[in-house]
Amino acid sequence: MRKELPDSEARRLLNPGPVTIITTRWNVMTNAMAAVWTVPLSTEPPLVGVCVHPSRHTFDMLRYSEEFAINIPSRQLLNHTQYTGQTTGRDINKIEATGLPAFPGSRVGAPLLEGCLGWIECGLEDVLTVGDHSLFVGRVLKVWVEEDAFDEVWLLDDDDVRPLHYLGATSYALLGERLEAHVRTTAEAALEGESAEEREEREEREARERELAEKDPERPPDEEP
Ligand SMILES: Cc1cc2nc3c(=O)[nH]c(=O)nc-3n(C[C@H](O)[C@H](O)[C@H](O)COP(=O)(O)O)c2cc1C
Repeated sequence: MRKELPDSEARRLLNPGPVTIITTRWNVMTNAMAAVWTVPLSTEPPLVGVCVHPSRHTFDMLRYSEEFAINIPSRQLLNHTQYTGQTTGRDINKIEATGLPAFPGSRVGAPLLEGCLGWIECGLEDVLTVGDHSLFVGRVLKVWVEEDAFDEVWLLDDDDVRPLHYLGATSYALLGERLEAHVRTTAEAALEGESAEEREEREEREARERELAEKDPERPPDEEP
């Protein structure tokens, strides 16, 4: 089941930086390219970016069509992701060649790929030259997620609903467990982390301190008896 999210949620889908497949359509041509240089850029208006080298067929597709989709693959698309990152759409229609099932986007002509966990449909807002790549700035038009994969954050409940992360060459990884952080000072965190034995010792020490302080109010509180 897919569900729609507010456009402002697009930036969260990109945390913590999953690998993506950028899909594009220009007239009858479609293309798909693995991209890991994606970045959330603005909350309001919702903008996301992808850095693309001018040698990529995707570069021209983006320039001409002025729209694109960011697909966030699951591990089911591990090999497809690598394929779209090592072949060029100038020579072959990668979506047809891989037999990747796709469905139409609601706001862009670019196809959305099945087997993904999230999709961000974008209109091209701006193109900035950044060194040897260009940053294509996308205005988020629609955001979709698989419900069992994402609910405010990536849920990571099991391997099939974890986004893929790119390590380099042909290596990828899945995130492990989700950890919940608490805002704590070092002292509070230390108290939380103490064992039952340590707590007992601390409580005894504090009781002794209180007793001595009552007997001698002049005594500094941290002085050992
Ligand atoms: C996992 C992965 C991530 C990649 N990320 C990017 C990227 O962010 N930007 C880019 O320009 N190329 C990136 N590449 C390289 C392109 O995907 C590759 O050159 C591809 O063949 C271009 O396809 P195209 O010519 O059909 O556009 C990546 C490759 C892989 C395997």
